[in-house]
Amino acid sequence: MRFFITGGSGFVGSSLTAGLVAMGGTVTILTRRIKADAAAQEGVRYLEGDPTQEGPWQDAVADHDVVINMAGETIFQRWSRESKRRVYDSRILTTRNLSKALNRASGPPRTLISTSAVGYYGFRGSETLDESSPAGEDFLARLARDWEAEALRAAAGGVRVVICRFGIVFGRRGGALGEMVPMFRRGLGSSLGSGQQWISWIHEKDLVGIYLHLLGRSDISGAVNCTAPNPVTNRELTETLATVLDKPAFLPAVPAFVLKWKMGEMASILLNGQKVCPMKLLDMGYRFQHPTLEDALTNLLA
Ligand SMILES: NC(=O)c1ccc[n+]([C@@H]2O[C@H](COP(=O)([O-])OP(=O)(O)OC[C@H]3O[C@@H](n4cnc5c(N)ncnc54)[C@H](OP(=O)(O)O)[C@@H]3O)[C@@H](O)[C@H]2O)c1
Repeated sequence: MRFFITGGSGFVGSSLTAGLVAMGGTVTILTRRIKADAAAQEGVRYLEGDPTQEGPWQDAVADHDVVINMAGETIFQRWSRESKRRVYDSRILTTRNLSKALNRASGPPRTLISTSAVGYYGFRGSETLDESSPAGEDFLARLARDWEAEALRAAAGGVRVVICRFGIVFGRRGGALGEMVPMFRRGLGSSLGSGQQWISWIHEKDLVGIYLHLLGRSDISGAVNCTAPNPVTNRELTETLATVLDKPAFLPAVPAFVLKWKMGEMASILLNGQKVCPMKLLDMGYRFQHPTLEDALTNLLA
C-alpha cells in the first residue's frame, strides 16, 4: 500500500511511518524542507513542498492509495494573534489543499485519514465525551471543528474520510513526555492548577495500531476518538509518572496564576481538559496494547 503523509517528519508522523513501512507499505512524506540529515529509510521517500500552498505536490497525491494528514504548527507556544493565525492556517490550508488534490485525482486514493484532537470538545470538566458529543467554543475547539470540515470536503468526491481525534500522545522521542520526564527525573514534578483536570492520552504504539486497524475497516468513516479507555486526572498522571520513574513528587501544585502569567492563554490547555471515551474503537473491537497509564508509562520509560 502506498501512503502519502503530511507532517510525517514529526513526532507522531515518524512513529507512524515506521509502523506503515514495517507492515510492508511505502511512504511519501511531504515536507516543507528536506533536511540534509534525513536518514535514508527503506520504503520512505521525501517530497519537498509547502502543504499550505497549492503546488505540484498535489499532483503526486494521485500516485498513492491512502493519504494521512497530520501537518500543523505546534500549539505549544505563547498564543498571540499572529501565532494563532499560523497554528490555524498550517492545518486549515493544508487540509483544504489536500481535499482539492483528492477531488481532482481521477483514480486512487480512496481513503483520507486526517488528524484532529480531543480539544474539539472544548473544556468540559468531568463529563464523559464520545464521538457524538458536540464541539466546544474555545480557540482549539473551533480550530478542530474547521480542520475536520476541510477534510470532510474530500468525501464529496467519494473518498472515505476518517478523522482521528488524538488525545495527548505519549511516546519515546518527544511529545508531552519529552517535556515532563526531565523535570520529574530531577524530582521537580508536580501537578498543575487544581490537578482535577482530565487528561485523555494514548500510547504511540496504540496510535499506530489504530491506524492499521482503520486501514482494514473500509466500513468505518467519520470521527474516531484516539484515546486510551482509561483517562486520568492531572494529579493521577503526576503520581503515576513519579512512581514509574521512582522519583518523589512532593512539591505543591503549580498555581494556575503562575502558569497563566508564564504562558498566557495557552495555559488554558494545561489547566483544563476533557474526559474522552474511545467509544467507536471499543465498539469495533480494537484491542488496546496499553490501556492503562501505568502500563503505558512503564513500557515507555522503564
Ligand atoms: N503530539 C500530540 O500529543 C498531539 C495531540 C493531539 C493532536 N496532535 C496533532 O497531531 C499532529 C502531529 O503532531 P506531532 O506531535 O507529531 O507534531 P510535530 O512533531 O510538531 O510535527 C508536525 C509536523 O507538521 C509540519 N509543520 C509544522 N509547522 C508547519 C507549518 N507552519 N505549515 C505546514 N506544516 C507544518 C512539520 O513538517 P515539516 O517540517 O516536515 O514540513 C512537522 O513535522 C499535529 O497536527 C498535532 O496538532 C498531536
